[in-house]
Amino acid sequence: MPDATFVTRLNEQIGHEFAAHQQYVACAVYYDAETLPQLARFFYRQAIEERDHAMMMVQYLIDADADVVVPGVAAPQTAFGDIVAPVALALDQEKRVSEQINGLAAAAREAGDYTSEQFMQWFIKEQVEEVATMSDLLRVVERSKDDPMEIENFMAREHPGDEGEDPTAPHRAGAE
Ligand SMILES: [Fe+2]
Ligand SMILES: [Fe+2]
Repeated sequence: MPDATFVTRLNEQIGHEFAAHQQYVACAVYYDAETLPQLARFFYRQAIEERDHAMMMVQYLIDADADVVVPGVAAPQTAFGDIVAPVALALDQEKRVSEQINGLAAAAREAGDYTSEQFMQWFIKEQVEEVATMSDLLRVVERSKDDPMEIENFMAREHPGDEGEDPTAPHRAGAE
């Protein structure tokens, strides 16, 4: 059995991941309404990734015979001052999640629950990538905020679509 405190905190993290999903859908909808389809597509895809993170955590708890809570989430921010704001918010969110993930790994280690600590390793690596992606994107949207087509071209070029399955990713509950 995983450590009880770790289980409680991982269940809370499932809520944070679902909240991130909702927030990225809200960002995508904003860009769709602004007719910036490449930015919209990027955030719709990010949203799915957040849901996947939640479902990986759900699967871990199921496999470990631990209680799974499916937490409710607070409403996301849906109104934005300009096209930079959703990306700035996304970067803040990713930085916050990185701290949460590191905190989970630390809690598992402190409890001597090395299996759970090991489970968190993939998420630590994933957060490094997500923070890097969002800080790059923030630089691009800040630089080109008066020329959104430049941003759209960047997104089409640098983030053309699905990166495909990561074979090292933990299994997601409900995935084929
Ligand atoms: Fe996530
Ligand atoms: Fe993320």
